[in-house]
Amino acid sequence: MKKLLYLILLVCIAAFEAGAQELNIIPRPNKIELAKGQFALGAAKGIHYTSGAEKEAANLEKALQEKYNLSLQTNAGKGKKNTISLELDKKLSKDLGKEGYRLTATPTQVTIKAATEAGIHYGVQSLLQAIYTSEGKFMPAVTIEDKPRFEWRAFMLDEARHFKGKEEVKLLLDEMARLKMNTFHWHLVDDQGWRIEIKKYPKLTEVGSKRKSTAIGEKKWNSNKQSGEPHSGFYTQEEIKEIVAYAAERHINVVPEIEMPGHASAAIAAYPWLGTDNQNIEVPVKFGRFYDIYDVTSPRVQEFLQDVLQEVFALFPSKVIHIGGDEVGYEAWEKSEKVNAYMKEHGIKTYADLQVHFTNNISKYIEQNGRRMMGWNEIMGINIHHDFEEKKADANAETELAKNVVVHFWKGDVELITQAASKGYQLVNSLHSMTYLDYNYSSIPLQKAYSFDPVPQELAKEYHQNIIGTGSQMWSEWIPTRGEMHYQVFPRLAAYAEVGWTQPQNKNYEQFRQALLPLLKVWEARGIHFAPLSDAEEQKKNQ
Ligand code: ACM
Repeated sequence: MKKLLYLILLVCIAAFEAGAQELNIIPRPNKIELAKGQFALGAAKGIHYTSGAEKEAANLEKALQEKYNLSLQTNAGKGKKNTISLELDKKLSKDLGKEGYRLTATPTQVTIKAATEAGIHYGVQSLLQAIYTSEGKFMPAVTIEDKPRFEWRAFMLDEARHFKGKEEVKLLLDEMARLKMNTFHWHLVDDQGWRIEIKKYPKLTEVGSKRKSTAIGEKKWNSNKQSGEPHSGFYTQEEIKEIVAYAAERHINVVPEIEMPGHASAAIAAYPWLGTDNQNIEVPVKFGRFYDIYDVTSPRVQEFLQDVLQEVFALFPSKVIHIGGDEVGYEAWEKSEKVNAYMKEHGIKTYADLQVHFTNNISKYIEQNGRRMMGWNEIMGINIHHDFEEKKADANAETELAKNVVVHFWKGDVELITQAASKGYQLVNSLHSMTYLDYNYSSIPLQKAYSFDPVPQELAKEYHQNIIGTGSQMWSEWIPTRGEMHYQVFPRLAAYAEVGWTQPQNKNYEQFRQALLPLLKVWEARGIHFAPLSDAEEQKKNQ
């Protein structure tokens, strides 16, 4: 009997220890083997690093100093007891790929190995997150081997509708890095504002970055109420360079989105000749999709777009350049004699074909400049807007979209994904009903966001490889302030980070929720106005 009690006690202790050692890391690593004991950070003597890992060592040193007041030298010798060792080894790329890492913690040593600096950076993020729970005191003994499910893990910020500014973008980049997201998709241009300085066309920002007022109110899209306050803001090229560099230090690629041929009112307000009828218009104060579009048949407009892209290429090292291409209302083209004459001359049958014809020329230009085009899935020429009064009768294009383009799927069904994949396109899945951060928590509660699978169940296996990742989109028509934006983004950003990184079989909502608790404290300390879980889990609460 005594023996049995003893045994039960042992089992309880083991269970308690295992529980206490549960790792709180978001996104959940793909392989975790917990061991006995823990590494005490207070006893750590220093950080060792191999050649190439200096920056990551400095970042780790700084993070431990700032958050926990731990002073660790960054030149500790290899294999020394009680050190944290960051080791780059190119040979590991076979197992770990471009972004994976191996983290081993014993009571006397923490080692992070990876084939790339990005991998070391992700290992460091896992280490930093795992120690939040103990306020920086302990790293549980563990072996983690981890790499992302997808290469494209994006967050999009729309600054055209409401400009947020450099400091806010940096805060968001910090949080993306913490969550191992690697793509900042920057929506810099739309009807209601042009936010990027283009030296050759100064009016784009002089005129296009300012509007007199902004639609507000309950009715939202149909609102006739206005703020009565002017709204403006743009990034100088110097500021863009600063942000691109800031992102790169965090292993985040910045993908600029320059909308064409629609969502172009701010540009047309600056230079009326960009539109089809050379009318003076103002930068719109209302939201929606019913504004002017570029006259893509004009050589001067084509030259303008190429000039803009040249400045964009110079500012953004990104291989992929996003050209929007969504929600183009064809009314302005329908009304234009010149556009219709051009179509006749070139044997272009429909306005959808004209858009694909234009998009293909842009894609060719982007490729000639060593980059690759990406656009919302309308660029394929298939009408996905039967629910919009003004677009429901639009025909599908017969013109085939240029090859080597990334299709950014946001609306439509799995057939559309299948069609794109079967033609060889790569896709990023940002299905609006699952990934739009402007949608409120009653339509996308946290658990629903977390449950998103960028590879739809119905998609044939042979096409799974065409899905290169996922995006989460902060559209900002109705999100004027920083606080309102934080409320929409956090904590859902953490869910989307796990969607992009963690293999489906390793996901578990309860475990995610547990890991979120220490992260909420970190956000609170940073002044991030996240939605409390009681709001973020709205649907769950109501069920
Ligand atoms: C979009 O939401 N218009 C891509």
